[in-house]
Parts: sequence; structure tokens; C-alpha cells
Amino acid sequence: MKLAIGNDHVAVDMKLEIKAFLEEKGIEVIDVGTNERGSFNYPVSGYRVAKMVAAGEVDGGVLICGTGVGISLAANKVRGIRACVCSDPYTAKLSKQHNNTNIIAFGARVIGVELAKMIVEEWVNASFLGGRHQTRVDMIMEIEETQHLAAAEEN
Ligand code: RB5
Repeated sequence: MKLAIGNDHVAVDMKLEIKAFLEEKGIEVIDVGTNERGSFNYPVSGYRVAKMVAAGEVDGGVLICGTGVGISLAANKVRGIRACVCSDPYTAKLSKQHNNTNIIAFGARVIGVELAKMIVEEWVNASFLGGRHQTRVDMIMEIEETQHLAAAEEN
């Protein structure tokens, strides 16, 4: 498995710990930065990771900023990306099983590094379940592609 990881200035230390944690598990990690602790605009690393995921260059992405919100919002603007912010392992697991998330995000100012490791581990180990969940994910992607949802016109 190969993952991309990106962060802003408030999440450098957590990013390095999560990167090492993943590498210990035999996962290849592409670090798009930043490693600077000065001000760094999170959309840059969110976009870098999202583009790699959307292009199929990696199997998924991990994004960390202060809350995980800004960096995941930026990533979700790239077509094909389903990124979510998680502060608990249950949501992380279900986000893959039900929503087929391809990026997991969290906040370095919100959770501690040990909880972040549990979240990433649950997400990495989970698989999309398909079936009825595929129908719903397809609807999400229909909205993205067409700015319309046919099913919403039905009674
Ligand atoms: C940086 O101050 C902060 O806004 C950023 O890390 C993140 O929390 C934004 O969503």
C-alpha cells in the first residue's frame, strides 16, 4: 500500500509521527509537506495529496491541520475525492466501509497522537463494503459531476 500525507504548520510533529507509524507497518508514505513550522497555507498540501489520490498515484491520503477541516475542504474540491475529518476510530472505519473515503483527515489541535494512530489504523485496515453503499456513493459522485441528483426529483 502507498499513501500520501500532507499537513500545515501546526501539524508537523503529528505528521512525522503518523508517517513513521505507517512506515513501521510496511506502508510506503509520500510526504508532500510541509515540514516548516512557519505559517503554511493548508490548501496547498490538501490539494497536493488530493491530486495524487485522484490520479491513482497512491492508494489513499492522510491530511492533518489544526482541526482537519480546512485541509479536508480543500481536498474535497478535487474531483473524485471523498475526504472526511475523523476524531474517533469508529467514524474512520465506517467512512471507508460505507462512504469509500479515499482521504482521512484529523486535527492536531483536537486529538492526541495515539488516538490519531488508532484512527489511521482503523481506516487503513477497513474496506469498502459496496452494495447499497455503492448506490449512495454513486449519488454523491453524480452531484459532483453534474451538480444535479436525479433521485432528488423523484417523489
Ligand atoms: C491554522 O491556524 C488553522 O486555521 C488550520 O490549521 C486549520 O485548523 C484550518 O482548518
